[in-house]
Amino acid sequence: MHRPNLVMVESTESTQDMAGKMAAEGFPSGAAVMALRQTRGRGRSGSEWISPPGKNLSLSVILRPVIEIRHAPLIGMLASIAVATVVDLACEPYQAFLKWPNDVLIQNRKIAGILSEARITDSSLEFIVLGVGINVNSSVDDFPVEMSDSLTSMSIITGRTFDLRITAERFLEALGELIARVETEGPSFVPSVWEKRWAHKGHSLIRDGIKGTATGIDSDGALLMKLPGGEIVRISSGAILAT
Ligand code: BTN
Repeated sequence: MHRPNLVMVESTESTQDMAGKMAAEGFPSGAAVMALRQTRGRGRSGSEWISPPGKNLSLSVILRPVIEIRHAPLIGMLASIAVATVVDLACEPYQAFLKWPNDVLIQNRKIAGILSEARITDSSLEFIVLGVGINVNSSVDDFPVEMSDSLTSMSIITGRTFDLRITAERFLEALGELIARVETEGPSFVPSVWEKRWAHKGHSLIRDGIKGTATGIDSDGALLMKLPGGEIVRISSGAILAT
């Protein structure tokens, strides 16, 4: 299937910036842009997202969900579920798992990351630009040496190469189905669906030097951590280390 709302460019600084401009100009929900090369790809928490040209999927999608601002993090989580279904299909019999808030793992290594950026106007959610980076055809040599144990790609897992545009279309299809569900019933289903793929449910975690157990995901996407004394704390952002 060819998606008329998927633009492909050779090179750009960041598809996030391109899609952000398109959204501000009025492009509709579902419009997406992918680039074969990003010269200033961005990751979460201000990090850089580096990917060898032409090998991996770098895609940003405009979404205009009618949801409360506090539920916006659920859209990034929804995207990680959609990526996981695409990775499952490509990497069968291996299965994709999720790391809070929205990393996708396979064989305990990161295969995809999601950067969700929202624009809020007059206290309502105007749009979200959802950035998705999937390691599709990277080889081990493409990763920085110090990260080669923690990253993987669809190609490394399967020994095959994949078409980037088809991978993008499969992701947009899976995302579209989940967004349609949000439109009909709201986003309250997201935490339970996300938890089914959670790699660390019940695991010990460390946050800011405090140890606890990952017990669940709250209705707004926050991670619920149980402290040794039984108190439950909510974690809304920031790095979590699995122990
Ligand atoms: C992460 O840190 O795990 C999130 C990475 C998100 C990378 C994607 S690639 C497409 C889009 N454009 C960017 O500059 N970043 C996102």
